[in-house]
Amino acid sequence: MKTKILVTGGTGYIGSHTVVELQNAGYEVVIIDNLSNSNIGVLDGINKITGIRPVFVEGDCTDINTLRKLFDENPGIKGIINFAASKAVGESVQKPLLYYKNNLNTLINLLELMPEYGVKGIVFSSSCTVYGEPDHNPINEGAPIKPATSPYGNTKQISEEIIEDYIRSGAPIKSILLRYFNPIGAHPSAEIGELPLGVPQNLVPYLTQTAAGIRKELTVFGDDYNTPDGSCIRDYIDVVDLAKAHVIAMKRMLDNNDTDSVEIFNLGTGRGLSVLELIASFERATGVKVPHKIGNRREGDIEKIWADPKKANEVLGWKAEVPVDETMKNAWTWQQKISK
Ligand code: NAD
Ligand code: UFG
Repeated sequence: MKTKILVTGGTGYIGSHTVVELQNAGYEVVIIDNLSNSNIGVLDGINKITGIRPVFVEGDCTDINTLRKLFDENPGIKGIINFAASKAVGESVQKPLLYYKNNLNTLINLLELMPEYGVKGIVFSSSCTVYGEPDHNPINEGAPIKPATSPYGNTKQISEEIIEDYIRSGAPIKSILLRYFNPIGAHPSAEIGELPLGVPQNLVPYLTQTAAGIRKELTVFGDDYNTPDGSCIRDYIDVVDLAKAHVIAMKRMLDNNDTDSVEIFNLGTGRGLSVLELIASFERATGVKVPHKIGNRREGDIEKIWADPKKANEVLGWKAEVPVDETMKNAWTWQQKISK
C-alpha cells in the first residue's frame, strides 16, 4: 500500500511541484488548500505530468474542524508537508494579524491533530529569512537567528520554535524544518509553475513578465551594495530540486527510527548570484533581452546571502542539480504559456 501524505497548500507554487515528486516517488497525496493564492486548474497540471489526480480538499487549515473531517475521511495519513501560509513580506507589515493568524493557527492545528490521527512526521517550510543579514557567507544551520524584520519572517521563526517546543514536551511526532533560499523556475513540462497575483514582488516573475512585455522594465533595486557588481546576491534554487528535497526529507522522517526528532536543513545551491547575473543568465538562456534600469535600494533588503548546503548534501544525500540557465529557460517557457 502507498504511504499517504497530506500536503497543505498543495496547489501553490512549491506545493504543486512537491506533489508531483511525491507521486513520482510512489506516495499517495491528499491536498488541502483554500485557494487563497492558487487555483484549482493546478490539479490538471499535476495530472498531466504524473497521470494521477491527487485527492483535493478545498478548505482552510485554520479551521480545526475542516482538518478533523479531512483526517476522518482520509484515514492513514502518515506524514504532512505544511506549505499553507501567507507569504508576502510587504503585506505582512500592513496586515500582521492576518499573517500571525493564518501561519501560526494552521501549524498549531496540524500539530494538535497529529498524535490523535497517528501522523508521524511534519515537514515545515521555513526560510533563510530567519538568518537576517548574515555575518558571513555561505551560511550554515548553526548560524544565529536574527530578529525578524517583518511579521512574515517572524511567523517562520515562531513556527520553528513552536515545533521544537512541542516535540521537546514529548509529543510523539518528528519534524524536519527546511530553510529555503530563493526558489525560482517552473516544471520543465510547463504544466505547473508560479502564478503571482497582481504585480509580482519577487525578481523572477517580474523579470519574465517584463521579457513578455507585460511590464515595461525591470528595476534593479540598487547597484551600490558591497558586492562585485553592486547588486544584491541570493542563492536561487530550482523549484524542482527544492521539491525533491521534500520527498527525501519525508522518507527519512518516516522510515528511520534513529534520526533526531527535529532536524534542520538549508536548501540552497551554495552559489550566490547577483540580480545582474541572474538577468544575464536569463538573456543567455533564452536569447530574449530584459529591459531594465537601476533604481533605488528596496527597504529591508538583505545585501548578500547564500547557503552552505553541506548538511543537506551529506545527511539527506540531496544536491541542487539544475543549472541556473536551464531554470531560467523553464521560467520563460512557463511565462510564455501563461501569458497566452
Ligand atoms: P504559495 O502562496 O504559492 O502557496 C501556498 C498555498 O497555501 C497557496 O496555494 C494558498 O492558497 C494556500 N494557503 C494559504 N493559507 C492557507 C490556509 N489557511 N489553508 C489552506 N491553504 C492555504 O507559496 P509558495 O511559494 O508555494 O510557498 C510555500 C511555503 O514555502 C510557504 O509556507 C512559504 O512561506 C514558504 N517559503 C516560500 C518561499 C518562496 O520564495 N516562495 C521562500 C521560503 C519559504
Ligand atoms: N529585486 C529587484 N527587482 C525586483 C524584485 C527584486 O532588483 O523587481 C531584487 C531584490 O532587491 C533582491 C533580489 O532581487 O535583491 C531577490 O528579491 P526577491 O523579492 O525575489 O526575494 P527576496 O530574497 O527578497 O525574498 C524572498 C521571499 C521571502 C523569503 C526569502 C528567502 O520573498 O519571503 O526570499 O527565502 F523569505
